[in-house]
Amino acid sequence: MMYRKMVEDDIDGVLKIEEEAFSLPWTRDAFIHEMRNNLHAYYIVALNSEEEIVGYCGMWLVMDESHITNVAVTEKAKGQGIGEALMRESIRIALENEVVLMTLEVRVSNIIAQNLYRKLGFQDGGIRRNYYSDNQEDALVMWVEFK
Ligand SMILES: CC(C)(COP(=O)(O)OP(=O)(O)OC[C@H]1O[C@@H](n2cnc3c(N)ncnc32)[C@H](O)[C@@H]1OP(=O)(O)O)[C@@H](O)C(=O)NCCC(=O)NCCS
Repeated sequence: MMYRKMVEDDIDGVLKIEEEAFSLPWTRDAFIHEMRNNLHAYYIVALNSEEEIVGYCGMWLVMDESHITNVAVTEKAKGQGIGEALMRESIRIALENEVVLMTLEVRVSNIIAQNLYRKLGFQDGGIRRNYYSDNQEDALVMWVEFK
């Protein structure tokens, strides 16, 4: 597996995973905006030996904080440590950028992702009520402080 910074040519591969993984997927335009206009955005992709994109993770780096926007791997590639490696790589890059606090939102029902984040030291923060517009599900805010 190889991990590198995402570029605009990766959007097709990333969109495929985004649409498979999320009930409210980001659009192509949203990813184009992230690549072209959002100076705070930092996305990484995971590539298999055939150089296909099998996962990605995005974050915004703003001052000394990082906000994870999305992380997902293909259905086929799940359970092989790729999601964890993408998160660890994002944390490494955040630390290089002198980030001290990392946060994210996750559906209260998404225990698998919560397990991953807890494994990496994230703690439970507050609840954002009715955060997800498809089913009005609450979001759990999770955070980790780097000292
Ligand atoms: C969440 C996600 C990225 C995890 O990626 P992954 O590559 O399958 O996960 P990994 O193999 O790296 O596993 C890392 C940890 O996640 C947790 N985890 C992964 N799969 C799990 C499962 N089936 N059941 C419970 N916990 C699980 C475990 O804590 C695991 O650590 P362990 O192997 O020591 O038990 C992946 O399931 C995914 O793409 N889900 C759909 C998109 C999504 O929900 N993203 C998060 C939005 S906030």
